[in-house]
Amino acid sequence: MKNQAILNLTLVAFTLILLTGCINQASEKKEADTKALTLLQNNCFACHTPDMSIDKRLGPPIFRIREHYFSEKIRREEFIDKVTRFAMNPSQANSIMPGAVRNFGLMPKQSFRQEDLEIIAGYIYDHDLGSDEWYAAWEEFKTTSKPGAKAMTFEERGLNIVNSTKSILATNLMKAMSAHGTAGAVEFCSVHAITLTDSIARVHDAKIRRVTDRPRNPANQANETELAYINMLKIKEEKQETLPPSILIVDGKMTGYYPIQTARMCIQCHGTLGTDILPETAERLHLLYPQDKATGYGENQLRGLFVVEMN
Ligand code: HEC
Ligand code: HEC
Repeated sequence: MKNQAILNLTLVAFTLILLTGCINQASEKKEADTKALTLLQNNCFACHTPDMSIDKRLGPPIFRIREHYFSEKIRREEFIDKVTRFAMNPSQANSIMPGAVRNFGLMPKQSFRQEDLEIIAGYIYDHDLGSDEWYAAWEEFKTTSKPGAKAMTFEERGLNIVNSTKSILATNLMKAMSAHGTAGAVEFCSVHAITLTDSIARVHDAKIRRVTDRPRNPANQANETELAYINMLKIKEEKQETLPPSILIVDGKMTGYYPIQTARMCIQCHGTLGTDILPETAERLHLLYPQDKATGYGENQLRGLFVVEMN
């Protein structure tokens, strides 16, 4: 009898442990999904938006990418490795979606964190992002998540600001180039690039500047501290190392330095005069920027820094 009671108690305790284990697992999964969706929203959805109502797409929706990368046979680690490798270093050679490259142009190189990409890619592997079930979860996420509610490190905050600035600049630049041609888009950069970054910065309660050692607009000349960081990055660039961002305290403010590298599309205005830069474009550049130092760049070269001052 006594033995039976002990057995029962043990069973109850055991069941309880199992149950709380399940509940913990469910809430842990929910937390992990929310984290992955936040990363996707901040880093990828500006171009790979899942919202079909957006007519001006900048890239294929993620579920299309998943269709190309996913198969019944592929292991999770292999999938993560492929997606991460492409996003770290987009190139024709790494691409398995030639149609997307034709339609949208190669994905611009950006500075993502490897560990974020692994979380993102794992999430894409685990979820069928084209399914109704996923869309329901996405709608719920959009209504419940408040941007900036969660505590982020300064490095993460700065990176979010830089990534949204880059994609908004890239969107508008591409629109201007397809509407007015490369030469016509020079005016866009000249008039709107600074006002656009300013308005993005205001949304994020931060100050954001683009600086360089070889400015087109003299107002974008890097100061001494910034030049020192650029020179350090150039040494890394020569050794073909990755170029890391950095957070420093400058005048009592948390300040993030994030490298800007050229993609192929940039060469039309920042490459070699006479070959990459067409005469009509060169003429406009010279008119607006008689002291232009921002030519002669190749693809994937350090062009300057985003400097983000955060409150
Ligand atoms: C500034 C716009 C932009 C952002 C932001 C962006 N992408 Fe892309 N991506 C593109 C474009 C354009 C393509 C289609 C052309 C291509 O395949 O390179 C693409 C294609 C891809 C492909 C398919 C590559 C191939 O051709 O096989 C993968 C994988 C990918 N993106 C992953 C990501 C991930 C993950 C993120 C977020 C961490 C992300 N992208 C953020 C623009 C972007
Ligand atoms: C249509 C021509 C055009 C294209 C394409 C273009 N730029 Fe520029 N870029 C300009 C002009 C014009 C300025 C000067 C803007 C100003 O007056 O602030 C500029 C300025 C910059 C600056 C600020 C520093 C400076 O030299 O004044 C950076 C950084 C930069 N561009 C990077 C890029 C990158 C990276 C790309 C590709 C993603 C790119 N640009 C594509 C025309 C272009």
